Amino acid sequence: MDFPNLFNPIKLGPLTIKNRIGGSCTTTGGADINGYITEECLYSYAARSEGGAGFITIECTFATDWGAKSTSFGNPRISGRAYYEGMSNLAEAIKQCGARAFIQISPGFGRQGSGRLSGETPPAPSAIPSKRPQDYEQRIMPRGYETKSATLGATTVPRVLTIEEINYMERTFPDAVAAARICGFDAVEFHSPHGYLIHQFLSPRSNQRNDLYGGSLENRFRFLRNLLIASRKRVGSDFCLGIRLSGDEHMPGAIHEEEMIQIAKWCEELGADYIHLSDGSYEARAEFFAQEMAREVPSIPVRPFGDQTMAAMEVYAWPGNVRELKFAVERSLCVAQGNEITPADLPAEVAGGVAGSGSSMADGTFDEQLGAFEAGLLQRSLRDSAGSQKEAASELGLTYDRFRHLLRKHDLTGR
Ligand SMILES: Cc1cc2nc3c(=O)[nH]c(=O)nc-3n(C[C@H](O)[C@H](O)[C@H](O)COP(=O)(O)O)c2cc1C
Repeated sequence: MDFPNLFNPIKLGPLTIKNRIGGSCTTTGGADINGYITEECLYSYAARSEGGAGFITIECTFATDWGAKSTSFGNPRISGRAYYEGMSNLAEAIKQCGARAFIQISPGFGRQGSGRLSGETPPAPSAIPSKRPQDYEQRIMPRGYETKSATLGATTVPRVLTIEEINYMERTFPDAVAAARICGFDAVEFHSPHGYLIHQFLSPRSNQRNDLYGGSLENRFRFLRNLLIASRKRVGSDFCLGIRLSGDEHMPGAIHEEEMIQIAKWCEELGADYIHLSDGSYEARAEFFAQEMAREVPSIPVRPFGDQTMAAMEVYAWPGNVRELKFAVERSLCVAQGNEITPADLPAEVAGGVAGSGSSMADGTFDEQLGAFEAGLLQRSLRDSAGSQKEAASELGLTYDRFRHLLRKHDLTGR
């Protein structure tokens, strides 16, 4: 098979990629349990970038601490100033090793999340549980977090998201997209496939709401639509935004190809620069794909995921799990006693947010935090390049014009 264009450049919206090989977002467990990028994670992405791919997408990252409460292990976060340094180092490492740096951002996991760490029931569009136990992922994470829960728990019935919570996500998600740009990422991909929260809104199987966010396809699309419009507005037209979608959910009463094509078209009309096409959901992985595989490859015995014997084998066969088990238990205890936001904090957060100008946070508004971080980056790069603005701009991967614009914005022109 010939791939004559594989090593030719390609444009994704405003962004030119040197070839057509890309690293798909794959959650590695490379953040610690509180969502901070570990050094190990940084080196692993840098090594992938050195392999010559045109772009590398870092794993599913939470937009807010509130959304991160539905994780069952440490997905990374880009939810506030404390996370920007690590994220900026990661973007820089990927870019320095040759690839464009992409990041996938999620508002939450919805009914495919877990309340195990936060102790809270994950919120979803409707109170319809996934037929797939949410804690399945805990068994496959290489760092061993939560491997103690290899025995599958019962599927939790999610609680219904309030309109205030939906609006909160619509307001904070674009903040995270803006933060990713400032941290140096070349593109942001919306985490909307595989039966996770955005996909749950799109699908009538998981979305039975009677308000503006449920019913017709237009209504089910409203959440993704609002996230896309507000994010585009926040980052401007010269930044690459992509959407990852499952082409078909493959389950009864779910969202299928025809409607997904319409959604992809709407995303394009609203300014998405690319669609990253995937397929299915966790339910489909347990049912549809298992049946397909049994039919296609009858010589291989297929047992649907969820079988506890397989679960135990996967956990204990993974190198490092036994060593890390004690560590994982200790970390989980830390989080249980730790500093997560509680539901009681949410109304204040919601009330404190100013639409269109960033949401409020404990130590200053989002814009203040991000602004301080951005000014710090500019000052550091100027210092590192001994005052040469051209060099500093290129070190940050910015055009000279944009660099000058940012210097003026932060009143740094005289330095
Ligand atoms: C351990 C693991 C973690 C993954 N994490 C994500 C993720 O965070 N976001 C996402 O959209 N897809 C995720 N995926 C799906 C991958 O991006 C990819 O689509 C899938 O592995 C199929 O590609 P492959 O055949 O090259 O493995 C994950 C897959 C695996 C195996």
